Amino acid sequence: MAFSGKVKRIGVLTGGGDCPGLNAVIRGVTKPAQDYGMTVFGIKDGFEGLVEGKASELRNEDVSGILSRGGTILGSSNKGDPYHWPVMKDDKIVIMDKSKDALKNYEAWNLDALIAIGGDGTMHICNKLSKLGMNVIGVPKTIDNDLEATDMTFGHDSAVYVVSMALDRLHTTASSHHRVIVVEVMGRYAGWIALNGGLSGGADLILIPELPFIWEKIYDKILERELMGKKFSLVCVAEGAKPKGGSLVTKGRDIKRTDPIQLGGIGEVVARRIEENTGRETRVTVLGHLQRGGSPTPFDRILSTKFGAFAIDLAAHKKFGRMVALKGSEIKNVRIEDAISKQKLVKPDNQAVFTAKAVGISFGI
Ligand code: F6P
Repeated sequence: MAFSGKVKRIGVLTGGGDCPGLNAVIRGVTKPAQDYGMTVFGIKDGFEGLVEGKASELRNEDVSGILSRGGTILGSSNKGDPYHWPVMKDDKIVIMDKSKDALKNYEAWNLDALIAIGGDGTMHICNKLSKLGMNVIGVPKTIDNDLEATDMTFGHDSAVYVVSMALDRLHTTASSHHRVIVVEVMGRYAGWIALNGGLSGGADLILIPELPFIWEKIYDKILERELMGKKFSLVCVAEGAKPKGGSLVTKGRDIKRTDPIQLGGIGEVVARRIEENTGRETRVTVLGHLQRGGSPTPFDRILSTKFGAFAIDLAAHKKFGRMVALKGSEIKNVRIEDAISKQKLVKPDNQAVFTAKAVGISFGI
């Protein structure tokens, strides 16, 4: 909404799935606010709070001590898309457009701008809300790291750390028992968590959505390792990985969400096939939401804090419709509209793929 006065009242919300670093952004937004003469309102439970009118002022003391805390003090929801709002009618879920309610609350709270911290889905909503007349600034988060417009999203490094630690631990037990251990990690349609986690945790095989695998290549790698005296193997598989010509393994659908597909289960499938075709004892560990919980790594704390501080500075300068982004080692900003146009996927010639292959990691291709 164009206006000539000073930006005084800012709303902040965290949308979509949580990840480590959200609180650090909220702190990074709120602490500098008083230097700009601004008041910050924390909107509860993502866009749900914007539609239902749940918000309260965030003061310095509310954000003190939250830098290292995982989750989000504001709460989040990945079912609160104002344009895809599930309502029960005659025992059936009906999807409604509640964007007018969101705008009504934005105006009732006299907000001059809204800082929305979220992933791909959140940025799509931000883009539509901008067109509706709200002054929106986006802050990209996701453990999946699948936003093209930023070199890194915060949360990713923390998730990779969990995968890396898990692989270290599984390495010792796999080795003692001469087993194959398959570790299923998150990431949706992108293989960044599996790639970076597998590389840092020394996986023997990494299976990612972008490089559909061939079953025989997996068995060959495990048996080849045995010939070299390595009687165990670690397989790091992304939840979105699939065999060449095969399809995604899903565990359900949730029509309340904009993307209803719930991924999960490929780890079990891979483990079963390995055991059946190599005769080697195989186990599975699904890391699931461990990758989203807990304290952010130092990298994520720094990135989140910078993102927060830059977002409020953008608001002060009325640079609306923009998303903060990491480009190299600098924080820049890009148009939200451009930011959502492309998903960042692992390219076959990515340096991490090259490096993994160079040190003997197989992608099963
Ligand atoms: O986008 C983040 C993410 O953790 C994905 O990696 C995963 O597929 C999904 O969210 C899980 O969502 P939920 O928390 O709804 O199970």
